[in-house]
Amino acid sequence: MNTTAQPLRRHLLALSVAVIAGTGFATSAWAGEVEVLHWWTSGGEAKAASALKATLQAKGHTWKDFAVAGGGGDSAMTVLKSRVVSGNAPAAAQIKGPSLQEWAREGVLANMDDVAKAEKWDELLPKVVSDGMKYQGHYIAAPVNVHRVNWLWANPEAFKKAGAKVPTNWDEFFVAAEALKKAGIIPVAHGGQNWQDFTTFESVALGVGGVDFYKKALVQLDPATLKSDTMVKVLTTFKRVKGYTDKNAPGRDWNLATAMVIKGEAGMQLMGDWAKGEFIAAGKVPGKDFVCAAAPGTAKAFTFNVDSFALFKLKNDANVKAQKDLASAILSPAFQELFNLNKGSIPVRLGMDMGKFDDCAKLSSTDFVATAKSGGLVPSIAHGMAVPSAAEGAIKDAISAFWNSDKMTVPDAVAKLVAAARTK
Ligand code: GAL
Repeated sequence: MNTTAQPLRRHLLALSVAVIAGTGFATSAWAGEVEVLHWWTSGGEAKAASALKATLQAKGHTWKDFAVAGGGGDSAMTVLKSRVVSGNAPAAAQIKGPSLQEWAREGVLANMDDVAKAEKWDELLPKVVSDGMKYQGHYIAAPVNVHRVNWLWANPEAFKKAGAKVPTNWDEFFVAAEALKKAGIIPVAHGGQNWQDFTTFESVALGVGGVDFYKKALVQLDPATLKSDTMVKVLTTFKRVKGYTDKNAPGRDWNLATAMVIKGEAGMQLMGDWAKGEFIAAGKVPGKDFVCAAAPGTAKAFTFNVDSFALFKLKNDANVKAQKDLASAILSPAFQELFNLNKGSIPVRLGMDMGKFDDCAKLSSTDFVATAKSGGLVPSIAHGMAVPSAAEGAIKDAISAFWNSDKMTVPDAVAKLVAAARTK
């Protein structure tokens, strides 16, 4: 055999493998279409969603975007229900927490065990996450990230102007809010959906009541804790925050509230770290143009919100292949890095290099691990991580009714909350 031909042949072989693995795949019989339902339409969210699209397209498949606008995903879930009921489910849908189990019980989700086994998901994921991705021991969803919800975002210029200090507890919060107000700055940027109210509420509950109270009251929905004096204190503190929001908050989207902090019209926002995606998309630098700090009184706790995609049963073989490729791509290191750099969250895959991530993400990553050990890692109720959807909806409505009413007393709110928690 000619000795010079060998390296060439090897080169060609390597090239053809690369082509098959890359765009050349598009022409293969296995190129499929993946329709993905999500609600990532704000600046940072859309950038993150396009990372997912690009990853799938690189595998030669077609991405069919099924975006339903509306932070928190309430509208997306309504649309999804009607699509599934009419027998026309998308390949993947952004579904999280206990809702995954609810959908799996309907028998509409696909078994992803082969992908999970081949890619070693059991080893790559924290157990608290992988357990939630399984129904009766079988993978039915793929997780994308870990968002921390108990954050406070602040504009340092606004704080400087007001002579205020970024608060570390709720007493300091109100001192800072008062100073911002005197300086003519809206102290707290807030929006107008019930999940935004609850995002603030659960941070107040965690900061004022502590981790055990949070778990008993909001995760276990224990009636005695829901009626306790601590809950009275939490509700009183929560309502006090409202006094520092502006008149135009009702109906406002969360990202427009973030934009107020970006521009310095408002001093701070209580929001999960998808807000960081907005700062980053606006070209802002953490630590310089904006500050991230744990929500007051919650530095030793971590409210987690894991975004995941449930995979629906499909009939077309090429689309099934594309769906599996999507599931496998979601946990690849390259995707985990690119997606989470844009989304504001941290990778859900363990052992990732955090070199390219900023200090907010690094803090989140350290605190995720530390709180998992200390017991301070708690699920976010506002973001569908803990409570079955019917009770979650009812307690969110109760909290928003209290937030929005000038007449409802704290005892009335407690009674409403206890009744809501019984919703099945
Ligand atoms: C959350 C979701 C995040 C973010 C946010 C605002 O529920 O987990 O990824 O998109 O809503 O839309």
